[in-house]
Amino acid sequence: MDKKDLFKLAIKAMKNSYAPYSEYNVGAALLCKNGNIFKGCNIENASYSVTNCAERTALFSAIANGEREFSAICVVGGKNGEITDYAFPCGVCRQALSEFCDSDFKIFVGKNEDDIKEFTLENLLPCSFDKSKLGE
Ligand code: THU
Repeated sequence: MDKKDLFKLAIKAMKNSYAPYSEYNVGAALLCKNGNIFKGCNIENASYSVTNCAERTALFSAIANGEREFSAICVVGGKNGEITDYAFPCGVCRQALSEFCDSDFKIFVGKNEDDIKEFTLENLLPCSFDKSKLGE
């Protein structure tokens, strides 16, 4: 599974986005260390704060299906599904990912198959608060 394939799956995931309020559609494809892939989209709610981001939809779906180890995620998004810029994971999603992902976990954001940027969780969430701080 290369980054282009993961990008294509994130685009597919975005098609299921439910975003009637922001009209900003997001899709994510999460690659497990065992090769399984979980897709997620943003799911908005009339009570705005209940909205779930695409990355957390993918992560929670994977966790609920027994996955615990992840190697990469690709995120795409844009107003009315038109991708004009990179869609970076929000702070809440970065923190949610940090519960299960190592610092070298890869985060891809792309505009198209030939324009995909690669980061690590450490790049996007430095000096993070995680379970090691709790002595777990
Ligand atoms: N959104 C995501 O799905 N992922 C992010 O990391 C940032 C924001 C969604 C939430 C909301 O449905 C819409 O994008 C606009 O904020």
